[in-house]
Amino acid sequence: MAKKSWEKRLKGKPDEKMVDFVESLSIDWRLYKYDIVGSIAHAQMLAEQGLITKDELAKIKSGLSEIAGDIESGKFKFDKTYEDIHMAIETALIKKIGDAGEKLHTGRSRNDQVATDIRLWLRDIIELMAGQIASLQQGLIKLAEKYLKDIMPAYTHLQRAQPISIAAYILSFVEQFQRDYLRLGNCSSLLNTSPLGSGAVAGSTLGLNRDSTAEQLGFWGISRNSLDAVSDRDFAAEFIFDCSLIAAHLSRLAEDLIIYSSGEFGFVSLDDSFCTSSSMMPQKRNPDALELIRGKCGTVYGALVGMLTILKAQPSGYNRDLQEDKVHIFSAADTTSASLDMAEAIISKMKFNTGKISSGLDEGFMDATALAEYLVGKDVPFRQAHGIVGALVAQCEKQDKKLASLKIEDFKAACDKIDKDVYKALGSANVAGRYATAGAAGVKQAEEQIEFWKKELSSR
Ligand code: ARG
Repeated sequence: MAKKSWEKRLKGKPDEKMVDFVESLSIDWRLYKYDIVGSIAHAQMLAEQGLITKDELAKIKSGLSEIAGDIESGKFKFDKTYEDIHMAIETALIKKIGDAGEKLHTGRSRNDQVATDIRLWLRDIIELMAGQIASLQQGLIKLAEKYLKDIMPAYTHLQRAQPISIAAYILSFVEQFQRDYLRLGNCSSLLNTSPLGSGAVAGSTLGLNRDSTAEQLGFWGISRNSLDAVSDRDFAAEFIFDCSLIAAHLSRLAEDLIIYSSGEFGFVSLDDSFCTSSSMMPQKRNPDALELIRGKCGTVYGALVGMLTILKAQPSGYNRDLQEDKVHIFSAADTTSASLDMAEAIISKMKFNTGKISSGLDEGFMDATALAEYLVGKDVPFRQAHGIVGALVAQCEKQDKKLASLKIEDFKAACDKIDKDVYKALGSANVAGRYATAGAAGVKQAEEQIEFWKKELSSR
């Protein structure tokens, strides 16, 4: 292996093993666009400050855009002996334009360069993922509208609890993804500060204008402290955490749909195009795409732990440990983005089997709470009402009846405050229409929520 131009201080050649071990080009080549944009901004600033000539600037700019073209057309040769995307591009530039290229790195280090590149990359990927979240939300709202008036059980402890509008169930995920959307936006705002000009760790003795590069690159401002700026990857950990919660929400949705599409539940049907069969059991129709969404959550959590562990106990300033950040940033972004995409596609083609759901709705005494609240309306203290209904449920269980099929005399025997109007409070459909609290899971509230989301999403 040849000696690197920037390692004149070292004796002899690096060990052969070093090339593969220290290189990051196989991973960070993906930053090339941002590296080039960052270099152009830096060169522009150097020219403004009189540190390079206009002519040199023009050469740097055209050289860098040629390199961008070469990379995009597949002509560029990525040589990992140059270690990373920064040196690969700079070396190619020097080859193309000579001395002017040698001036590009004036007042800059790969330490502030890579910190800048990652921030720029993340800004774009966050925008893309926020768009994916918004489309997934749109898909969910469309589905919710379709099943607004249909009722399903809501579960606690995976036991039937209370009847709800199917729309309310679906909209519960729109809420989760909304928080993800806001979290990503917040992450993007927090990382939108330029570290460029912080150099290796202490800034530069040259008259750089950091505001100029920050402005050119669309940053809202510059970092205040060079030590912090070159070593800060909090934003990366935060981004991966945001991905982790998205993955968790997707995984919960996937888990529900896997359960609901099972033969035992039969609540939803997934489109065949998102299922697979078995190599042995000819009858099988498996929800593999959903299982993978659930499983990929582990990959994203792994990235988070990886990133946090890199940060732990690093001495101040830049350390090469930080190079590993991209492994986790890219893994989290790619995995989360692919899962968002797949989830949206599955949602757009799935169906709720309302016949099957409603045929079992009156099993499980899901109207018991509403009956207790009916009694509260008749001036029975809630704790007493709870006891009365509990006893009625036990009676029904013994007689294999539903609450709604008890005679008025049975009700009167349990509590003389019960009138004939009790039947309007019984049965899942009645209950789902009776919810009165804001944000409840009834038909009325789900309808209001759909209206809210339509307005909210149209402003994006
Ligand atoms: N490839 C490195 C990274 O991703 C760039 C910075 C290397 N800096 C250094 N002084 N060795 O972090």
